[in-house]
Amino acid sequence: MKKIVLNACAAAVLAAGGAMAEDEKPVFYKDVLPILQENCQICHRPGGANLGGMVAPMAFTTYEEARPWAKAIAKQVTDRNMPPWDASPGQHGQFKNERTLTPAQIDTIVRWAETGATRGNPTDAPQMKEFPAANGWLIGEPDLVLAMPEKYFVADDVEDIYVNINQTITAEQLPKDRWIKAIEFRPGSAAVHHIIAFPLGGIAPGNDPTVYPDGISRKISPGDDIRWQMHYHKEAGPGTGVYDQSEMALKFYPEGTEIKYQMQGNALGRFDFEIPAGDPNYTIQQEYTFKHDSQLVQLMPHMHLRGKSAKYEAFYPDGKSEVLLDVPAYDFNWQTTYQYKDFKKVPAGTKVVYTTGWDNSTANVYNPDPTKAVRWGEPTTDEMSFGYMSFINDSGENEQMFGGGRRGGRGGNMPSLVSLIGTFDKNADGMLQKDEAPGQMARFFDMVDQNKDGSIDKTEAEAADKSRRKQTEQPSL
Ligand code: HEC
Repeated sequence: MKKIVLNACAAAVLAAGGAMAEDEKPVFYKDVLPILQENCQICHRPGGANLGGMVAPMAFTTYEEARPWAKAIAKQVTDRNMPPWDASPGQHGQFKNERTLTPAQIDTIVRWAETGATRGNPTDAPQMKEFPAANGWLIGEPDLVLAMPEKYFVADDVEDIYVNINQTITAEQLPKDRWIKAIEFRPGSAAVHHIIAFPLGGIAPGNDPTVYPDGISRKISPGDDIRWQMHYHKEAGPGTGVYDQSEMALKFYPEGTEIKYQMQGNALGRFDFEIPAGDPNYTIQQEYTFKHDSQLVQLMPHMHLRGKSAKYEAFYPDGKSEVLLDVPAYDFNWQTTYQYKDFKKVPAGTKVVYTTGWDNSTANVYNPDPTKAVRWGEPTTDEMSFGYMSFINDSGENEQMFGGGRRGGRGGNMPSLVSLIGTFDKNADGMLQKDEAPGQMARFFDMVDQNKDGSIDKTEAEAADKSRRKQTEQPSL
């Protein structure tokens, strides 16, 4: 039924364009290759894009390469799994990195596959598209490449581990202050699950490189400290150990470029949830009301293996509202950053409500254990609920979003202190010092630091977590 609708629609589009008649048989070089070239080859070519470790397993640059995949290609585009893009059609046209095919393009591919996947005449082929050199940087020739200061060995018995590694940018690497235009990360091994280089940013599987829109930037200076937070994930077992030395490439604005805004960013995030075992659709919400007139530059929902859906809605001060981003079928493998073509204006007083949905049932093929209730945690087998927003405003001030939980509750939005050590331990000594503690935590730092040595160690954090859980146990939504 769906298919008939699609064909009728495609036929209408084609008739209007005066292109191909419905009974004409699409051929590879004339009809299909141009679609693959524009929408698939950035990844599906030899040495194609490496988006946080997601590398397409096959190339579609010639008939010989694509022909054996004809049926799979037709299925992937019909199901809208490929090209990877999970925003609902309601946001069509708003994001500059959108990857979608038109119904007419899908129809051409499907009919090509169904009518023998023929070659056609190679002289009808469009000119080969120029891509960055195989294994080159997508952002172009970088001005500075920083590698992790040393190789890290992800040992045989490790399945999931977070490692913090500090690096200070030297004057040899960077002689003077520069404004960053683009950042691209390259995992050094298949064991890399995500990389965060505080405070510059990071990548998870499926992320595009960060390219700041013109006039927006972040400064980098000699002497700056960078903390690589590496999340490694692999199967454990003899011989699985692997060395990793991931890299980050930076491109700068030409010197003297006027920078109008420094990029601000924060996330709507909650830490106080518990997803019941087996629940096929457990949702939570969090909201934040903007204090400054701001403009949203990009959005990125983040969950783990049980992630099912994500939605950002804006409620404007004038009473109007709209869905900013709806991701009805979240795919953990494609942690897409949705980059606005035209920045979205959110006047002061705009409330953004972020809704996360999880599938903790057997219907979720990625679910590692549907019999387990799941809480906030760093391993991918625990969960997260973050609705990241990058924005700019004239005040140049960041907006502090954490703690804006819908149900509020004392401490209800705080992660466990044990996990905070992992996240904020800048000097990587396994403890949290006061200058490392996030803002809202500094207030009760002394209370938690029972032996008064100026650091919160794991035992102290565990004790505090335990007493806090007792105080703030809340019913689920
Ligand atoms: C942003 C990168 C990217 C783009 C663009 C992209 N792909 Fe893929 N594709 C991948 C990756 C990575 C995989 C392997 C992992 C997966 O299946 O998600 C893949 C897998 C596939 C598969 C194999 C699925 C299977 O296992 O049977 C097909 C077929 C496919 N892509 C077709 C396409 C087509 C057709 C297009 C364009 C219309 C396209 N892809 C665009 C990255 C991409």
